[in-house]
Amino acid sequence: MEFAGGKILADVHDRVGLITFNQPAKHNAISVEMWAGLEEVLRSWQDDESVRVVVLAGAGEKSFVSGADISQFEKLRGDADAQREYDRLTRGGRDRLAAFPKPAIARIRGYCLGGGLAIAMMADLRIAAQDSEFGIPAARLGIAYGFENVRTLVSLVGPAHARMMLYGGARIGSTEAERIGLVNRVVATETLVEVVADLARTIADNAPLSVRASKLTINQILRDPADRDMDAMARASAECLNSEDYREGRTAFLEKRPPQFRGR
Ligand code: COA
Repeated sequence: MEFAGGKILADVHDRVGLITFNQPAKHNAISVEMWAGLEEVLRSWQDDESVRVVVLAGAGEKSFVSGADISQFEKLRGDADAQREYDRLTRGGRDRLAAFPKPAIARIRGYCLGGGLAIAMMADLRIAAQDSEFGIPAARLGIAYGFENVRTLVSLVGPAHARMMLYGGARIGSTEAERIGLVNRVVATETLVEVVADLARTIADNAPLSVRASKLTINQILRDPADRDMDAMARASAECLNSEDYREGRTAFLEKRPPQFRGR
């Protein structure tokens, strides 16, 4: 399926949904229309049982996403008022991704910069090819990276590395990104697609309610304590214990066969 005039591509294969940022002529820079397309795809997959895991990737070999589409800045992000309008136009996509209940994996190859890194950081897991490069050029452009993005960055790499990346604005390679905890794993470039497919399949084979409860709980832990929804976590846990899948998990273990989970 195509969204945003073909600049967002969406496909489902073997319970894994693949979203491709497809603007290779601009290193897959993400435009307002692409944010809207991303929101549409995620909305349609949210309750779709045929999708258990989402993979986010960039088209081509050069970039994951090179950031917000700077060519729209003059018109849409020219000053603070325009920025508020830009935030309003892109909020749907960002909120959808941040609150997406199923696990998302960013499959990163090439440049992963600015708003592109923000997208990768909103995913649950980041697997990067050796030839990836990461950076936040905000200080070189004269913009601020935004509360939610900085918060996510600090939660992943800690304040010291966050400061280095934000103040300096320099790009770092994949080895450094792995060292500071920005990505989960770096793999040989030619194996990236296969490694991510294996990981996605492994997660898709596991009990969906259990994976969902873990995602919910980790996201709640990252919130301010006063904002945590303890009831939602208790409900998610009870849902697992009362599920057919929990029975299937126990039975399959005793019968020494792989479980067949159905997400209920
Ligand atoms: N928005 C809009 N266009 C972008 C873009 C972005 N974020 N990133 C790259 N492009 C465009 C370039 O303007 C260029 O367009 P042109 O062919 O019409 O001149 C095209 O993509 C190719 O980019 P180019 O800079 O020539 O490629 P490169 O290989 O020399 O460098 C990058 C690649 C990604 C390092 C470089 O393009 C870059 O620094 N981009 C901006 C990154 C950025 O600041 N992102 C933060 C935005 S919040």
